[in-house]
Amino acid sequence: MARKPIIAGNWKMHKTRQQAADLANALAAQVGTYEAVEVVLCPPYTALETVGAAIRGTRIALGAQNCHWADSGAYTGEIAPPMLVDVGCKYVIIGHSERRQYFAETDETINKKAQAAYRHGLIPIICVGETLEERQSGRTEDVITTQIKGCLSGLPSDKVAQSVIAYEPVWAIGTGQTATKEQAQEVHALIRKLVAEMFSPEVAEQIRIQYGGSVKPQNIRELMAQPDIDGALVGGASLEADSFASIVRYE
Ligand code: PGA
Repeated sequence: MARKPIIAGNWKMHKTRQQAADLANALAAQVGTYEAVEVVLCPPYTALETVGAAIRGTRIALGAQNCHWADSGAYTGEIAPPMLVDVGCKYVIIGHSERRQYFAETDETINKKAQAAYRHGLIPIICVGETLEERQSGRTEDVITTQIKGCLSGLPSDKVAQSVIAYEPVWAIGTGQTATKEQAQEVHALIRKLVAEMFSPEVAEQIRIQYGGSVKPQNIRELMAQPDIDGALVGGASLEADSFASIVRYE
């Protein structure tokens, strides 16, 4: 069965509610009925409800940028998976490199967050990626292998099959420097092979693997033409309706 492409906008720490409503309304008008690609918007927590209302009745799905692993509790400043379900989320980004870098997230906490997401019916978008220093010292394969094994270990294979992995080379995020299609395909193929070994070839065949890192209307097509690239996680270019809509309509 062919994997349906999935393109998600990661708005990061941008947009007030009014700005978020304007962007979501514009996207609902431009790609709200588009069927060829699954579209996901991941605004900051404060705009989830606003964006959810703007995309209601369209084919666009709502996602959050992070969650805690507990269902509730004394974790000041955190948001639990049931709260994301309550506000209408279908997806949640987990382990973004900015979370790993600035908020000390590890493969272990990412694994716990994925389990928590599954418990509540959320689909995690699990992020992995090497730094520039790791790539330049020839450690990309080792780093990705360690991250995939750590993040996915012990997870139920039926849930993993429905999940999304985002390969985001840290050196390509927000830098304007995209991985070449060959560099991206090489790592995507590695990730799919690892998933086949850890779970099964069927799970590897089903799981969707997004590329992220300076995706733009100009480079989405060649990236999507690679056999193991099933979508994109888009930061900067998702903050403006025309550029994100043309990424979604890359075909
Ligand atoms: P970028 O960010 O598209 O701005 O490089 C991608 C991401 O961090 O998800």
